Amino acid sequence: MIPNQLIEQLQQAKHLVILTGAGVSAESGIPTFRDALTGLWENFDAEQLACKDGFLADPSLVWGWYEWRRNRVLKAQPNPAHLSIAKLAKRVPKLTLITQNVDDLHERAGSLDVLHLHGSLHHPRCINCGTPYRHLETEPVGSESRIDPPTCSRCKGLVRPGVVWFGEPLPADQWALSEQACQNCDLMMIVGTSGMVWPAADLPYMAEKLDVPIVQVNPTITSFNGLAKFNLCGKAGEVLPKLYAATFSDL
Ligand code: APR
Repeated sequence: MIPNQLIEQLQQAKHLVILTGAGVSAESGIPTFRDALTGLWENFDAEQLACKDGFLADPSLVWGWYEWRRNRVLKAQPNPAHLSIAKLAKRVPKLTLITQNVDDLHERAGSLDVLHLHGSLHHPRCINCGTPYRHLETEPVGSESRIDPPTCSRCKGLVRPGVVWFGEPLPADQWALSEQACQNCDLMMIVGTSGMVWPAADLPYMAEKLDVPIVQVNPTITSFNGLAKFNLCGKAGEVLPKLYAATFSDL
């Protein structure tokens, strides 16, 4: 059930910020990180795979794991949650989409100017000189495949995934634009994030400090439940189309 007050606030919103996490891609078949049993961190060791030291210790294991994830994304399709977010951008005067995800499903759903706080699977670069690397082709890979990472065409350094690893700073431009949006919006929506990784999890608190109403879409309780004025308990791929239809269908 979508509260009438939320419908009104969405209809009147001048600047909507949406912060998404892995949950928005779950219905596209992309594993989240912390869901019990299915989450990536249930089955893989983050310390070994999602950090620079882990990559340097075993480049083939880490590169192979990210290639497996990238191939899963290439085979996946945007789900109704991604599509509803892209449609919302056409109905509100200004929408800033901030994602913690490293897939390109928001872009493939039609969202523009997506702010990627944690980088992207689709933009690897040289670990030494930062030269971008363009993937030549996609070989089907399993999760256990070891694949030697490519080497940089300029300096022969190892090519690394274009994601932000634990202990690394977020891209300064993406963070600055995200902070600015959260401090200037009049409605904020949090979709599919456990709120357990900082500084991304700080963004809703910035908005709340300025009395910006927050709506959360998540099938489980998170640390944001106390912050949100509206908690829509459900899957993003089911809730967001309903929210869009209830808000804009008769306009
Ligand atoms: N619709 C909406 N939310 C969902 C769905 C769904 N269909 N399925 C799961 N969720 C919710 C879960 O309840 C959980 O709250 O999505 C959230 C996923 O949380 P995490 O797995 O922790 O993912 P996320 O919050 O994006 O993690 C943040 O942690 O490991 C790092 O860099 C990684 O960007 C990631 C960051």
